[in-house]
Amino acid sequence: MSAESPTVRGLGEAEDIRSVPATITIGEAGGHPGKTVRIQGWLYNLRKSGKIVFPIVRDGTGLMQCVAVKSNLPEPVFDSLKSLTQESSLVVTGAIRAEPRAPGGYELDVSDVQIIQRVSEDHPYPITPKEHGVEFLMDHRHLWLRSRRQHAAIRVRHEVIKSIRDYFDSHGFTLVDTPIFTPAACEGTTTLFEIDYFGDKKVYLTQSGQLYNEANAMAFGKVYCFGPTFRAERSKTRRHLTEFWMVEPEMAFADLEEVKRVAEELIVYIVGRVLEQRSEELKTLERDVSKLEAVRAPFPRMSYDDAVKILQSKGSEIQWGGDFGNADETLLTEDFDRPVMVDRYPASIKAFYFQLDEQRPELALGVDIIAPEGYGEIVGGGQRIHDLAMLEKRLTEHNLPREAFEWYLDVRRFGTVPHGGFGMGVERFVAWMCGLEHVRETIPYPRMLYRTRP
Ligand code: 4AD
Ligand code: MG
Repeated sequence: MSAESPTVRGLGEAEDIRSVPATITIGEAGGHPGKTVRIQGWLYNLRKSGKIVFPIVRDGTGLMQCVAVKSNLPEPVFDSLKSLTQESSLVVTGAIRAEPRAPGGYELDVSDVQIIQRVSEDHPYPITPKEHGVEFLMDHRHLWLRSRRQHAAIRVRHEVIKSIRDYFDSHGFTLVDTPIFTPAACEGTTTLFEIDYFGDKKVYLTQSGQLYNEANAMAFGKVYCFGPTFRAERSKTRRHLTEFWMVEPEMAFADLEEVKRVAEELIVYIVGRVLEQRSEELKTLERDVSKLEAVRAPFPRMSYDDAVKILQSKGSEIQWGGDFGNADETLLTEDFDRPVMVDRYPASIKAFYFQLDEQRPELALGVDIIAPEGYGEIVGGGQRIHDLAMLEKRLTEHNLPREAFEWYLDVRRFGTVPHGGFGMGVERFVAWMCGLEHVRETIPYPRMLYRTRP
């Protein structure tokens, strides 16, 4: 909304235009102490105390406690404000005053109020300060995003995404987008969403942009893709979504060690940015930031062999050759204050594309990075097969349709080089930053086994 609001337009020619209050966001209040301004937002809460009402207004950038004194306002304005319903939209004019005890450090002494829409008492805003069940809140996700904790988590998500982009953009990577409709499986055929693509050829929603990234790395050297990925996983855990966002860098002439180095540097960078830029949100989320401050390089590194031994010594049932469950991942990281890197997994439990260890060909040159505090695997990646014959063999062993991978084999036919990269899931990363129990609160509209709405 511009300064040309109905109240402004009513002014006569004699009025000096400079006296029209500036419209600011609540986040900008600190730059206007003592000034009369207009803020535009929604009624978050309302406290009454005799002849004063204290509306708390939110506008997406913060909360502003307003102080409306009956004697300072026209009676109809005060009366409509006094009975205003939660989430009604309004424009408040008033003077900014520093108040250390107020939520954002400022209060607004109200001189005028314009109500844009009054939410009806007959159909009140469904999310009230009382406790609601999570299913109810998820059904109202489109409104729940207005609540403080949800709002804070999405702001942290924004910072995570922005810092990921800043990291790659300033380290020589080119953004190369990969398709969402794909003809081939990257991460196993059991988690593919099949799409009816004009009733013709089989097409799936992408599980990962990696295969395309490998081709792109041969064109650009270092690339990344960043977009939604899909897994038809029937897992109903606090770490699984069917649609999640993944950033995937891929580098030509890179080995497993280089992949680990870049992933570590990226993670340290993002954590630093979140601490720096989102301290208010972390406070709202009651996150213990000392846990994040501890995230520094170098991360502990161990082989799968050693990880299995450690887990067994801690009472896990795991045997060599098995994949880690959520409980194993939590157990493995409990003695560390930062993410743990586990590499060289049995090839039999990893995807077809991993380069195999020369000394021990039963091992894949892959690495998983497991976040502390029980947040689980946040990064998976490694070195790719660069030899044509070896890749053909692995495709056959995995029963993958050769025809759909012909273009991928070309990467090994025309100037093949060792290369590698990784994928990092945004939602698990954000859950870790925010200290959230479940990934469903880290994405605006989560898609899970039993949820595709709103
Ligand atoms: O380990 P994943 O399956 O690896 C790949 O997709 C590789 N192709 C990536 C690459 O090397 N370019 O997935 C990578 C990460 C996981 O570590 C996790 O953070 C996240 O993606 N992830 C999920 N996040 C939410 N819900 C799910 N169902 C996820 N599956 C994987
Ligand atoms: Mg993985």
